[in-house]
Amino acid sequence: MDTEKARLLELRKKIDELSYQYYTLDKPTVTDYEYDMMYRELENIEKAHPDWVTPDSPTQRVGSKISGGFEKYTHDRPMLSLGDVFSDDELREFDQRVRSDLGGESLEYVVELKIDGLAVNLIYEQGQFIRGVTRGDGVVGEDITNNVRTIRTIPLHIASDSPHIEIRGEVYMPITSFEALNQQRRDDELEPFANPRNAAAGSLRQLDPRITAQRKLAFFAYALGGNSGIEIKSQEELLQDLAQFHFQVNPEYRKFTDIEDVITFIHSWDDRRDSLPYATDGMVVKVNSFAQQARLGNTVKIPRWAIAYKFPPEQAKTKVLGISVSLGRTGVLTPAADLEPVHLAGTTVKRATLHNEDYIKEKDIRIGDTVVIQKAGEIIPEVVRSLPERRDGSETVFTMPTTCPACGSPVVRRDGEAAWRCTNPDCPAVIGEKIAHFVSRDAMNIDGLGDAIVQQLLAQGLIHDVADIYGLTKEELVDLEGFGEKSADNLLKAIETSKSVGLARVLFALGIRFVGAKAGRVLAESFGSVDALMKASTEDLTAIDDIGPRIADSIVAYFRDAKNQALIEKLRAHGVDMTAEKKTLINTTFDGEIVVLTGKLQMFSRKEAEQAVEARGGKCTSSVTKKTTLVVVGTDPGSKYEKAKKLGTPIISENEFKEWLER
Ligand code: IVH
Repeated sequence: MDTEKARLLELRKKIDELSYQYYTLDKPTVTDYEYDMMYRELENIEKAHPDWVTPDSPTQRVGSKISGGFEKYTHDRPMLSLGDVFSDDELREFDQRVRSDLGGESLEYVVELKIDGLAVNLIYEQGQFIRGVTRGDGVVGEDITNNVRTIRTIPLHIASDSPHIEIRGEVYMPITSFEALNQQRRDDELEPFANPRNAAAGSLRQLDPRITAQRKLAFFAYALGGNSGIEIKSQEELLQDLAQFHFQVNPEYRKFTDIEDVITFIHSWDDRRDSLPYATDGMVVKVNSFAQQARLGNTVKIPRWAIAYKFPPEQAKTKVLGISVSLGRTGVLTPAADLEPVHLAGTTVKRATLHNEDYIKEKDIRIGDTVVIQKAGEIIPEVVRSLPERRDGSETVFTMPTTCPACGSPVVRRDGEAAWRCTNPDCPAVIGEKIAHFVSRDAMNIDGLGDAIVQQLLAQGLIHDVADIYGLTKEELVDLEGFGEKSADNLLKAIETSKSVGLARVLFALGIRFVGAKAGRVLAESFGSVDALMKASTEDLTAIDDIGPRIADSIVAYFRDAKNQALIEKLRAHGVDMTAEKKTLINTTFDGEIVVLTGKLQMFSRKEAEQAVEARGGKCTSSVTKKTTLVVVGTDPGSKYEKAKKLGTPIISENEFKEWLER
């Protein structure tokens, strides 16, 4: 075999192994850099030999967007659901039924955590992953193969030559990923997901696998679907085999013979389950032996050999000490319950959101009430209901303030909205929030302008809007409480640096409704300057991928407002750069490529060739390094050509380059 081909196979094997160590075992054995280098090398070989690319290559995890919806797929064997019980006694009844159906035979149970995600069916043929399907209604699911491929803990091939094997398990979103995703969604003014399961479901049903890939999903394998040619005798053996196949298997399972021990084990999770890095909603008790499972059989919907013991939702009772109202940067007044501190699902809860006025009215939540609070999806505390039977008459009905708690201006509730807003455009609380957002890390990234400083600056009339930050002087700063020479200098330096962060961040920093960090980047790249963006119509905006009508309308409305126009002019006058490199993509032939041109080109000037690459998504650099992905050689190439050969960088001629451009 060709040495290059051999290297390719070696790299794939190595990368699969390293990914398994990193994602599934959580025990990396090399640095990210070493991994990246191997990955890059593999990509280069595959680019030079497109016919060597196979769907199970680690480079093939993220495919392109599909149009329309997902195809339906009928499961070979239905994907069953589970019957459930909610108490120890109900579980004892299950045990008695199973024992009597088995004629009093001895038996073992395997008890697993019930992962709160989405069941999927993975189909492998001759060891190759060929299809991933949602459970759907149990009989017919949706083919989400391309999204499933992006999940790193799902192997794209397994050590099995079975012509057909189906592995079933749960796709879930780890809690840290869930929290990061929701934070990003709040930044982007999108509704956060209520719990990790919804987040996982939303992510799996994305038409664009690139989005799924960003969502950091994971997978626990726990069952076998239709299969041929493998002999497994028990659930315990299955879990061990699945781990051998390099699936992630939840390590918390245990085996028991006595139902009382099962019950003790289940209760051992009562106050431990919140510390798991993923959400669980119960435990699953399964008869271990597959032979006994077969004798017990299934009903149409559920197996008779397994049962789910559901954890009660994590709730606690506590008292509402008061209801306080805070202001966001859009001027919305949000009420929250201040609670008598109470322990719930691993944390002490002191506050719970009450969302808006209507929510409080609907639930009749009064100050002094005893209320039931719950963590939605086990994460965010909310007040579920009040307990009127516990009232002693001292409770008071809450009314929304008619004036802003921060500045005393009147508040209004617009038609069709649940939110009350402060009417004062100069409300210090709102401006304070706006400034906090403006200077935040993903926005203008100005370090050193904390809340207390901002409030002082506002109180002294030194700033009225975000642009005034750029007019601050050292004299003004050193006079502030808690400021010295050095901190003033540092802050001024940070302010100066922020002038050149570029249009993408400026757009995010402005706090235009629905324009998050990502929309900021897309808009900056598409329009190139704030002036071009200000002239854009809703149609111009919606023509861009990723910009929907809601964002488009909000942008148009924002720039139509004379006050905002004046703010942009003020920022410009202070020297804030509001331009970005504009990207007019003709197509994506060179998407992600780092190209070096060397030698004399006959058909293009250097500049034309560079522009042609950039217009197709690539980037031109001047020297060949390990990062270079493609070298275009003209006549009399020099040392760059030699270096590319040495590094094994893919090389194409000018003629080939021309062909690429015409693709
Ligand atoms: S076994 C025939 N094991 O629970 C047995 N299910 O309510 C099928 N689930 O649809 C399921 N963790 O999505 C099994 N360790 C586990 C599980 C589990 C979560 C989910 C699964 C299933 C649902 C039934």
